[in-house]
Amino acid sequence: METKYRVECQTHSVEDTTQLGKQLGAFLQERQEPLCVALIGDLGTGKTHMSQGIGLGFGIKEEMTSPTFALMNTYEAHGQALYHFDVYRLDDVCELENIGFYEYTEDQISIVEWANKFPHELPDETLWVTITRLGESERQIMMASDILSDDELAQIGGQYVVRN
Ligand SMILES: Nc1ncnc2c1ncn2[C@@H]1O[C@H](COP(=O)(O)OP(=O)(O)O)[C@@H](O)[C@H]1O
Ligand SMILES: [Mg+2]
Repeated sequence: METKYRVECQTHSVEDTTQLGKQLGAFLQERQEPLCVALIGDLGTGKTHMSQGIGLGFGIKEEMTSPTFALMNTYEAHGQALYHFDVYRLDDVCELENIGFYEYTEDQISIVEWANKFPHELPDETLWVTITRLGESERQIMMASDILSDDELAQIGGQYVVRN
């Protein structure tokens, strides 16, 4: 993904990835502007743990489960909604229309797991989060965006930033 801004983070445990997610979730709650968090990564890299961290930082009290079968779960915290998609099982762009994907990702705060299946359907207001397995418990987490500046990305990444 060619974007204006990017930052590289690394985590060394599930707890790190959850914490990084929390930092992002808190940022989204405070920012109060639409943003689509597009999560990309192979099976078992940590997309769902990252999502759960985002939910925690956003202020969501209930447990977040992967919406692989539901396709979308809706949460709310501090009067602000968060839409969590998993498009792994979707094959056709038409199906996105049916689940209200465009309204939610363009006008709300959302998380989309397996966003790389439909990269061209996401809005300009997207934060790309690409997780790569470096080892048993090491993950590279690249955050890239045209909307959030390098400074904002570095603020979210905090102690996990290795390069920007
Ligand atoms: N640094 C890490 N961050 C996230 N998950 C990790 C990490 N190290 C090991 N894991 C393991 O990787 C798996 C990630 O699972 P999950 O979040 O469900 O992935 P995905 O949603 O991408 O399929 C879990 O089994 C978790 O214990
Ligand atoms: Mg998952």
